[in-house]
Amino acid sequence: MSVAKPNPHDSGPIHVSGIARYTDDIPMADPVHLAFGLSTVAHAKLTSVNLDAVRAADGVVDVLTAADLPAENDVSPAAHDEPMLAVDTVHFVGQPIFLVVATSHRAARLAAQLGQIEYEELPALLTIDAAMAADSKFEDAMTFQNGDADAAMATSDHQVEGSMEIGGQEHFYLEGQAASAQPNEGDVLVHSSTQHPTEIQHKVAEGLGVPMNAVRVETRRMGGGFGGKESQGNSLAVASAIVAMRLNRPAKMRYDRDDDMVITGKRHDFRIDYKAGFDATGRLQSVIFEQFAKCGWAMDLSLPVADRAMLHADNAYFLPNVRILSHRLKTNTVSNTAYRGFGGPQGVVGIERVMDHIAHDLGLDPLEVRRANFYGTDDRNVTPYHMTVEDNVMPEITDELVETSDYIARRAEIAAFNKTSPILKRGIALTPVKFGISFTLTHLNQAGALVHVYSDGSIHLNHGGTEMGQGLFTKIAQVAATVFGVDLADVKITATDTAKVPNTSATAASSGADLNGMACKVACETIRARLVDFLAEKWQAKPDQITFKDGVVGYNGNSMTFAELAAAAYGARIQLSATGFYKTPKIKWDRFAGKGRPFLYFSYGAAVTEVVIDTLTGENRILRTDILHDVGKSLNPALDIGQIEGAYVQGAGWLTTEELVWDDKGKLWTHAPSTYKIPACSDRPKEFNVALWERGENVEDTIYKSKAVGEPPFNLGISAFMALSDAVASCGDAYPDMDAPATSERVLKTVDMEKGIAW
Ligand code: MTE
Ligand code: MOS
Repeated sequence: MSVAKPNPHDSGPIHVSGIARYTDDIPMADPVHLAFGLSTVAHAKLTSVNLDAVRAADGVVDVLTAADLPAENDVSPAAHDEPMLAVDTVHFVGQPIFLVVATSHRAARLAAQLGQIEYEELPALLTIDAAMAADSKFEDAMTFQNGDADAAMATSDHQVEGSMEIGGQEHFYLEGQAASAQPNEGDVLVHSSTQHPTEIQHKVAEGLGVPMNAVRVETRRMGGGFGGKESQGNSLAVASAIVAMRLNRPAKMRYDRDDDMVITGKRHDFRIDYKAGFDATGRLQSVIFEQFAKCGWAMDLSLPVADRAMLHADNAYFLPNVRILSHRLKTNTVSNTAYRGFGGPQGVVGIERVMDHIAHDLGLDPLEVRRANFYGTDDRNVTPYHMTVEDNVMPEITDELVETSDYIARRAEIAAFNKTSPILKRGIALTPVKFGISFTLTHLNQAGALVHVYSDGSIHLNHGGTEMGQGLFTKIAQVAATVFGVDLADVKITATDTAKVPNTSATAASSGADLNGMACKVACETIRARLVDFLAEKWQAKPDQITFKDGVVGYNGNSMTFAELAAAAYGARIQLSATGFYKTPKIKWDRFAGKGRPFLYFSYGAAVTEVVIDTLTGENRILRTDILHDVGKSLNPALDIGQIEGAYVQGAGWLTTEELVWDDKGKLWTHAPSTYKIPACSDRPKEFNVALWERGENVEDTIYKSKAVGEPPFNLGISAFMALSDAVASCGDAYPDMDAPATSERVLKTVDMEKGIAW
């Protein structure tokens, strides 16, 4: 069986040899290059836009403002609140105001600096506090509740309360945003580095004022997306298409790294205020969260992101009496967007902070407090959104990881070390994750596939998912190879193409393999059933006893190769092409009531991280990480382990070194790798033990009983933050209420607070 094998990523060799083609590498005949001219103020009326110098600059072919656009001026994913080019008003530093068309990328960028723009500045809301004070929101506050949080809080044995700021995160995909467009007899062919080709098709059609069938979008791969290419590629694709049709000439656009970081949305920064009531064992009696999400100037995907933060405010814990309140704040900052975990990690950080705070308050090992609060059976298995947790494997995974990581002995050893080490302090933490799988917007949980078997037995596979490095194409090809019992090499993986599979959802919510794998399986099984009927007649065979294995089809002494079968079936006029379709069963969700079953199932995992800090500088290192993660029956253990390692490191980066700094005018200072520090190879844990949970199996009927893996392990990076907090706590008696990211500076500040040194 091809599934369950650790096949390498299909593009691995061409990634590392430079042969793999990314959007900007696709050859085009004499293209023009585009760049946006950007706003330099956070909120203002445009009083004058003088582009004479731009037009006169070297290599400039054309310059467009909003007035030059042929149809709709909107690149938002849904709300129609995001003009591609500003009209009258600008809402953040970096908002595109005009579009330069030039003979080279460099000429376009240089000319884009020459716009003479006059602004009448308006008050700018740059922070969560400012937006709350002005009541600037995208929708009314949302509430989920279960039980009576206030009454239970009043009668609880102990209480803690606090507040935590959690910074945003730049996606830092290695391939920046890019798109190109080629006119084709009045229609347009778009190449886009996007997780969502159908949305690109839709927005290009709107932008040109043509039907969707006049636009074809193709995406072979992205050099990373991480959620940053769900909606943020719209502008580049729409701009390229408009210029290509206007000049009847190929057009391409890519953002330079600094522009990319300034223009595109990031992970939402949050503040989470909490109050918890608990008994002497640390078991929660009541918890109240107030979540504040900084959404930026346009809605983008902020509502479902903020919803997912609420939906993960419980993480792996039963919250008996709970209220979760969420504010979706509109600010004059970049419009924040999807980022691996889609708000979930922010919610998880909130409850993990509560666990840590309770443990400190009671003087208990935080692991014991976590265990005391895990979901259980019967009366302890209902989430704050009233879904019953049916597949809870958290306690088992935790027990196993505590053993394999030697947590108990190491915790004691670290405590002993800290007593005798005045400057270096170590810390350790175990944090779990339970992550809900399915799009919370129910209708997105559908997918299609198109499979052809050619008469030589080779297979052409297409589906609605996109490849961004996660290995989706390899996994889906394994599904096709498994159904037909052929070698993986016989399955040709082809670029995602809106002309082959229509009306797709973004490859997001970790659902790529779940949805497209099933659709592919359905398509392959349709063709296989036709082949079986053909053989049953030919061989007078019982259909269910015909085998497809190792490239050979057989029954009771009869056999032929799959290639021979394909040729014979073609000769017998059997249709060798089929579509497949899948929709996720069982899910039902009312976001306003905060009730239902938004997820088909949960993915689980846990991590133990050990760190060391230097209490004189705040510098720190991850010394060792042990992860045990449940991917059900793995479709591909090599790719799954790669996803877990990458997700952990990215999650740890978010909460440690990756800091976005804006000035008090709303200008981003950290817009390049020189000032924004993503983890490097040398920042990964020195000892990194990642294991898949062997007993894992999806209780739901998913593709070969696997579980989604893309986002859940991102949350395991939280153990690095909690380990740092543990190390800092050894410096004094107070609870170290550190904000995230725990940069060296912030670690040092918190250490000094512990020691009573004022900053
Ligand atoms: N892995 C790599 N290498 N590159 C990426 O861009 N994106 C992540 C995750 N893993 C990403 C990645 C995100 S945000 C999601 S939602 C999933 O992959 C999407 O792919 P899947 O649904 O096929 O898991
Ligand atoms: Mo992932 S944030 O759902 O693209």
